[in-house]
Amino acid sequence: MKAVILHGGQGTRLRPLTHTGPKQLIRVAGKPISQWGLDALRALGVNEFCIILGDNGAERVVDYYGDGSKWGVRVTYVYQGRARGLADAVRGAEDFVGGDNFVVYLGDNVVLEGLEDVVEGGDFNAVLLARVSNPNRFGVALVEGGRIVKLVEKPKEPISDLALVGVYRFTPEVFEVIAQLEPSWRGELEITDAIQRLVDRGREVRFRVVQGWWKDTGSPEDLLEANRTLLDRYASASVASETVSSSVEGRVTAEEGSKIIGSIVRGPSYVGRGCVIKDSYIGPYTSIGDGVEVDSCEVSGSLILDGASLFHVRIVDSILGANSKVYRRTAKPLGSKLVVGENSQLGLE
Ligand code: TTP
Repeated sequence: MKAVILHGGQGTRLRPLTHTGPKQLIRVAGKPISQWGLDALRALGVNEFCIILGDNGAERVVDYYGDGSKWGVRVTYVYQGRARGLADAVRGAEDFVGGDNFVVYLGDNVVLEGLEDVVEGGDFNAVLLARVSNPNRFGVALVEGGRIVKLVEKPKEPISDLALVGVYRFTPEVFEVIAQLEPSWRGELEITDAIQRLVDRGREVRFRVVQGWWKDTGSPEDLLEANRTLLDRYASASVASETVSSSVEGRVTAEEGSKIIGSIVRGPSYVGRGCVIKDSYIGPYTSIGDGVEVDSCEVSGSLILDGASLFHVRIVDSILGANSKVYRRTAKPLGSKLVVGENSQLGLE
């Protein structure tokens, strides 16, 4: 089975984190978001992937996944560039797909349940759906008599509370219908319009309603929730870091090459490589990337990305971007001294 992972998009809601790279590469609970999807598909036997690249940090995606051999799969790339919609992104995979059925997985979504319904079987189209309280933020499907009859992208008037979760299965016929699409009011080729055309042609579009947890990590709150849930489910007690006069409690994964000195680390948490954590408390639901320095701090429920440093601060439910620095000032005049990038959010004490 082949899968297409969408790695483009603008990521405006996650600025400034996405000023320097795609949101799908943000590492949550030890893995980039898109790798949670890739690994889940791999576990079901998918071994050929096509990653669709956007115009933001495409080279970093290629650097990370390479030819896929590190994970025992084949990865090839297609450059979409500017975000012109999901259907436009899928269109780029036509040569990769050839005459086969294939799966499309949005690289910023984490969907770990129900994937076998889109991976296994013969010639058919399928989508995963989930009940949501805010259908106006999603593509939604109207289901009648066990069949999908209508799809609408971000409906102003609610037609259903069944949102399309970011995983689809298509037959190659989808490329024919995408070729006939016109851009929507927001200037994008919509995947919902493509599926609607398949329905209009009388093709069966199977669906499964996902009951468990899934997440579209488009916003900072979603990212923190994904961090909590993934740590909750997947953190294991595995400490390869050097620990000195420290207490590491519960399910803490701490990678090799990091030092934890005079600190308490409580799971579920993740600590990457090359970090120094000194005289600090790292509370549950914290993911710390590589090369992070934490000295005399309390940190919990947070996502700290590679190369960040924190000194003498207490932070909760926060996201710190790569190479950012947060510290407490002691020199007068006191008060917060800030260099804040475009679209940043700061909640000061
Ligand atoms: P969205 O989250 O809908 O769009 P976005 O990434 O531009 O984010 P924002 O609304 O914050 O600006 O995209 C869903 C997924 O599809 C995401 O993984 C990015 C990917 N995508 C593409 O690969 N190409 C595209 O043209 C679009 C629109 C999205």
